[in-house]
Amino acid sequence: MNVDIGNALATVASPGISRERLERLDAQVADAHERIEAGMEHAEHGYEALNLPENVDPADIRQAVGPVTDADALITVGIGGSALGAATITDALADESDTEAIYLDNVDPDWVTGHLERIDLENAAINVVSRSGTTAETLANFLVVREAFEDAGVDWTERTIVTTGESGPLRDLSDRHDLPSLKVPDGVPGRFSALSAVGLVAAEVCGHDIDTLLEGAAAERKTLTGSLFDCPAYAYGATSYALDQRGAAINAMMPYAESLETSAEWFAQLWAESLGKDDLGQTPARALGVTDQHSQLQLYRAGPRDKLVTFVVPQEQSDRAIPDTEVDDLAYLGDSTLGELLAAEFEATEASLAAAGRPNVRIELERVDEYELGGFLYGMEAACVLAGELYGVNTFEQPAVEWAKKATRGLLGGGDFEEADAVAEKTELR
Ligand code: PA5
Repeated sequence: MNVDIGNALATVASPGISRERLERLDAQVADAHERIEAGMEHAEHGYEALNLPENVDPADIRQAVGPVTDADALITVGIGGSALGAATITDALADESDTEAIYLDNVDPDWVTGHLERIDLENAAINVVSRSGTTAETLANFLVVREAFEDAGVDWTERTIVTTGESGPLRDLSDRHDLPSLKVPDGVPGRFSALSAVGLVAAEVCGHDIDTLLEGAAAERKTLTGSLFDCPAYAYGATSYALDQRGAAINAMMPYAESLETSAEWFAQLWAESLGKDDLGQTPARALGVTDQHSQLQLYRAGPRDKLVTFVVPQEQSDRAIPDTEVDDLAYLGDSTLGELLAAEFEATEASLAAAGRPNVRIELERVDEYELGGFLYGMEAACVLAGELYGVNTFEQPAVEWAKKATRGLLGGGDFEEADAVAEKTELR
């Protein structure tokens, strides 16, 4: 992964980060890096996620998924950090897989039923993922899915892989039915778990090379030095933070590849849930090149000056020639390819934002493959950890999310939670 922050720097046209500010920021990065290194060394909660490339054993994952690698469809039941990392990988590499990856995160009944009616359950498998093993949406969807398997006459116990923590209701269920299971590593919060079994089971079942994913991540880990000038991940984290300090309260990620659309969703969770604390944090937005050049770009170029646009651009993609035409005015297209058109549109968008004094950062991937995806996932996580240090927030907790989870369970009679009482009280007041 390469990060170009040139268009985030102050110029005549742009009020971005000045050279002096960058130098001062680098001193803060050095201090933050010491803290991150110490956290990694002592396997502290959260920081431990940055050790995953060394600690994860792909052989354990391969062994657990063995019985279901013949599946035509893999239904991953999980939500948030227990789904988005896996979805980023399998969506990005979907063209190379014969297995359809389906993610049941939402509990919208029509949507869940629609999927279950569409899928050939006899040739499907279930990948149920919950770190806590208590998340109501995941457990509910799992019970619905396993019932659908039973109704279709399929032994779900032969077709299910579980990834969860050491204990909890999902672990109990898994033990009771002797299901193949994997453990979410200790000290790894959900949204930082893409490079553990949480994200890699789906990748393995879909036939992707998880060794190479981890190699790409390990290579990115080696770039974690104490300076933003040497480390792409830190350059991104520090730049985003510094721009937020100057008013870029929104960070719009805009990949220029259809296959990377889900990566912006994963990034949005990582950035929002990790940094949105103590009245701080940058609001992530999602866009897709070139599609959103015809919608959101207007706002990005001429709306409020409160945004950073993060482009994610693969350098190599497959290509397709644009056929010649009988209309003279369209002759220019016949001399080009779709790839050239895509590249020209990206260059024009990036340059036009820069010319309008709108800060943007370019993240370059060589191509969309396992190695580059591993590096990207790791790099963005490291960027987020660094940004968390600079903001001074607790990156690895999510009290607002936990509040809602407890309230939901309490409202459905799944335990006594003061959060549920607060909701009940509020509704009574209406
Ligand atoms: O990052 C997080 O902690 C959350 O997004 C969780 O991943 C999400 O709430 C799902 O939790 P669990 O894996 O416990 O079911």
